[in-house]
Amino acid sequence: MALLSRGLRKWVAGENLDNAIERVKKLNFDGARGMVNFLGENYENKTKVEETVEEYLKLIEKIASERLNSSISIKVSQIGAEIDEEYCRENLNKIVEFAHKNGIFVWLDMENSPFTQLTLDLYLQIFNKFQNIGICLQAYMRRSITDLKKLINTQAKIRLVKGAYHEPSDIVFRSKRDINDNYIRLMQILFQKGDNFAIATHDTYIINQALKLKKIYAKKKFEFQMLLGVREELKDKLTKSGFLISEYVPYGSDLWQYCWRRIREHPSNFGLVLKSLIA
Ligand code: FDA
Repeated sequence: MALLSRGLRKWVAGENLDNAIERVKKLNFDGARGMVNFLGENYENKTKVEETVEEYLKLIEKIASERLNSSISIKVSQIGAEIDEEYCRENLNKIVEFAHKNGIFVWLDMENSPFTQLTLDLYLQIFNKFQNIGICLQAYMRRSITDLKKLINTQAKIRLVKGAYHEPSDIVFRSKRDINDNYIRLMQILFQKGDNFAIATHDTYIINQALKLKKIYAKKKFEFQMLLGVREELKDKLTKSGFLISEYVPYGSDLWQYCWRRIREHPSNFGLVLKSLIA
């Protein structure tokens, strides 16, 4: 078990908060930002949820006291969405309010479809009180264009991703081509009507399209976001060209579901994990 965890470490900063902070310091030194996630999801028990909320408060305090350039990124299912909506809202409010006091930005990850509407509702409720919160939208979801148009009118801060979960065919685009086309359609709307958004992908074709849009909408502020352990050379190249990069930095021991999504995205990663076990 410990050996397999070691093989998965390429996508994770380490087991504890200090490991994540070390990674953020390195990113800041290299001119990039961090976006730290404490691993864990689908908690059905309040003890786990409360430990998670406490961990995020400690994390916010540490980022602020060390004056690091980093946001945090959280999942509603790790702070009570599986237990009770009101309970989840209270937890999210507590984290975002504390982050607000400390000048830290909070991203809401988007999980699988049973959580989509709840995540959007919670986002809008909290965003009414505190503006240091952003939300992720998934280009594979057919509903995302409608969600984007509604969110953009409220000046929401949006991170656009392709989408990482297995979903029923009727609610998502399935083929790589359809997902990419929809990503580009949504990205064009972000450039035309949004601001302060995030293009979260490692896909060179989409990044090149974003660079073209940036030439047309030169005043728009946006950043590229990528995952720890993926396409390091591309992050470096974009940072050196003067673009803002935030790296998603997960840490903790609850790493299976996160790493499984990385393997599913690129099954060749499975071979790499196996290789690292015998290396
Ligand atoms: P794509 O999968 O087509 O990859 C493009 C290229 O990037 C590949 O050809 C390969 O070179 C490289 N690459 C991508 N992933 C790789 C990997 N795992 N290992 C090795 N190479 C890889 N999803 C979600 O549903 N909810 C969320 O909240 C988030 N949050 C999020 C934050 C950030 C910062 C990022 C970058 C991504 C997410 N995602 C996400 C994940 C996202 O939905 C998607 O699954 C992955 O980013 C992979 O898709 P790409 O856009 O990179 O394209």
